Amino acid sequence: MRISKSAVRFNIRLLLAGCAFACSIGGTTARAQDEPIRPGSVWLDDRGKAIQAHGGGILHLGSVYYWFGEDRSEENDPKTRYVACYSSTDLVHWRFRRQVLAVQNPESLGTDAILERPKVFYNKKTGKFVMYMHLDDAKYKLARVAIAISNRVDGRYTYVKSFRPLGQESRDIGQFVDDDGAAYLIFESRPTHGFFIAKLTDDYMDVANAVSFIKEPLEGGALVHYKGLYYFVGSHLTGWRPNPNVYAVSSSLAGPWSEMKDIAPPETNTFDSQSSMLIKVSGSRTESVIYIGDRWKPAQLWDSRYVWMPLKIGDGGLQLPQPEPWLIDIKTGEVAFLPEESKSISGAAAEQK
Ligand code: DGJ
Repeated sequence: MRISKSAVRFNIRLLLAGCAFACSIGGTTARAQDEPIRPGSVWLDDRGKAIQAHGGGILHLGSVYYWFGEDRSEENDPKTRYVACYSSTDLVHWRFRRQVLAVQNPESLGTDAILERPKVFYNKKTGKFVMYMHLDDAKYKLARVAIAISNRVDGRYTYVKSFRPLGQESRDIGQFVDDDGAAYLIFESRPTHGFFIAKLTDDYMDVANAVSFIKEPLEGGALVHYKGLYYFVGSHLTGWRPNPNVYAVSSSLAGPWSEMKDIAPPETNTFDSQSSMLIKVSGSRTESVIYIGDRWKPAQLWDSRYVWMPLKIGDGGLQLPQPEPWLIDIKTGEVAFLPEESKSISGAAAEQK
């Protein structure tokens, strides 16, 4: 059931993400999208199919956002690993573009090879789209990144190679593009008990050098640069099971990083989610930072859900609020929550277990 625009526009509670913490503003007429993002619900694409972009990454090009992720569709060939691409101009409605990558037996690893957490970078110099992935054998011992490239953002990507970045084991990867356009791969290195934040080479086809190392045994690394501070989020090493994700802050990408703190009440296990990415939406009025997490269902990966929520962030603090339906206005950067009455009316229809 759609929520009436008037119900949203009046009575709206605005969270200005530019504030250090949530601010309530009464009587505002925010021009937010009339369709909310519903963390944890089945999120349908333009075809009416559940979005398959797990462990995903977002590429923002002009006015379009592209969401890449693991396509775990139940009907997929079990011997092939797939990456899907979706596009959106509002972060709410996603159009399926295609399965941009389908790989069989990469590096002769066999049909049970692991291909996870794809992230796509756009290299302005070469005009190529470069996809990084975590490539592994079934026992997660290989610990490499793989690269595939395409001339078009939603074209078919060609598998190029795999390697250990900087010679290090690499499992979960994250993507970060700083405000100056510099592109970084975040990768988890188990033997060194931490995360490397490593600058990509000019053509993005390799990792050039480590800019920072965060010595914490974490995975699901994600990073955002917000109002002069870098915020790093990661999850503990509990496989598919959720745990209390933590964050650290630094005024420089090179560190030093603060001690780790919980991003949500620890007993909620990050509201049953695992960090994947942080994106900053810069609008005409404010900037919002969105937490993108996965709510995994390991026995039915195709039915894993997404937990997207605007963060309360600023002045070195970061908190993931209790998930609830919310709205975003891409133009202004403002986010808003639904008034209580429309939450219960629309919630029943949208909440699909
Ligand atoms: C946790 C990682 O973050 C996921 O991407 C996946 O590799 C699972 N472990 C597998 O157990």
